[in-house]
Amino acid sequence: MRAAVLAEFGAPDAFRIAEVPTPVRINAEVLVKVAAAGVNPIDAKTRAGKGVADAVTSLPCILGYDFAGVVVEIPFAGHPLNVGDEVFGMMSTPRGEGSYAEYVSVPSLQVTRTPKTLSLIEAGAVPLAALTAWGLVVDLAKAHEGQRMLITGASGGVGHFAVQFASYFGVRVAATASARNQAWLRELGASTVLDYDLTGWEDQLSDLDVVVDLVGNTVDDTGRRALTTLRPGGLMVNAPTGSWPTLDEEAAEAGVRATTFKVAPDAATLAVVARLIDSGDVRVHIDKTFPLADIAAAHASLESGHTRGKLVLQIGELPF
Ligand SMILES: NC(=O)c1ccc[n+]([C@@H]2O[C@H](COP(=O)([O-])OP(=O)(O)OC[C@H]3O[C@@H](n4cnc5c(N)ncnc54)[C@H](OP(=O)(O)O)[C@@H]3O)[C@@H](O)[C@H]2O)c1
Repeated sequence: MRAAVLAEFGAPDAFRIAEVPTPVRINAEVLVKVAAAGVNPIDAKTRAGKGVADAVTSLPCILGYDFAGVVVEIPFAGHPLNVGDEVFGMMSTPRGEGSYAEYVSVPSLQVTRTPKTLSLIEAGAVPLAALTAWGLVVDLAKAHEGQRMLITGASGGVGHFAVQFASYFGVRVAATASARNQAWLRELGASTVLDYDLTGWEDQLSDLDVVVDLVGNTVDDTGRRALTTLRPGGLMVNAPTGSWPTLDEEAAEAGVRATTFKVAPDAATLAVVARLIDSGDVRVHIDKTFPLADIAAAHASLESGHTRGKLVLQIGELPF
């Protein structure tokens, strides 16, 4: 099969398109012919030798968490998925090869049917970002009617799902983004959108119940500034976990609670997300699609830090 292979850690042009062995399906795995793979910041961090690079046991390797495609082999006749089903899910990269490849063999609990209303390209953008947003907003923050929540970095892959999940559950959402994304985030359900380029944006918010922090302290002390918007006992949930090693101490000093978070593959939650997409309550926004051969451009674009919604790699030829 064809795959984007990383022979050594480095810049976006470190990938090579190469022929590699197709994975052999074992145990309860499902073999999927991949149509599309979402591109996520963790892929870029790992490619550069950070992220989860320490867990890459040998190079060359194949990165990529998100996939959408068509089932080509099932583990047993009565399996709930059938050959030909359109499915999506999340890999456990780098415990095994990732989804920047024409085929993945994936455990049954990590794969489910795609939303009926999405193309495979759109579905490929959903898994890791939506599972992260669900974990932060629903599982950790317990989103509910009347809750007041700030989401920083709201216009990116995770953020645009987080805004929609929170507003679906009746949360009053404030968001930070640049000026060009303000109207769009209001359409997605944010009631207040603050331009992060304006000095003192954090002074316009107070006594919030939750901050979902998708920026951390990598830029402009965003996380630290967002902390000041919480009520006593409020909750800060932080996704860019490496950016803020003193989070616990600073939260305790401010009289608020804090936790980091790590996303995990979860087909059951993805099936719930698929229903919200099919009912029209949640949408996925694709900023740009790249052919697999242009993976360097996709990673460079992601690293610009200003993706609206998601970037996707198209892997198979369409129609599939
Ligand atoms: N712990 C986990 O399990 C986990 C899982 C997923 C993601 N993450 C981390 O969470 C972070 C967000 O992920 P993502 O996929 O959503 O990233 P992304 O899609 O690359 O985020 C891009 C967005 O960030 C916005 N942005 C840039 N600088 C900003 C600032 N100073 N303030 C507010 N917004 C800003 C941009 O908005 P503008 O274009 O308007 O500037 C853009 O829309 C990443 O660090 C990622 O590694 C962690």
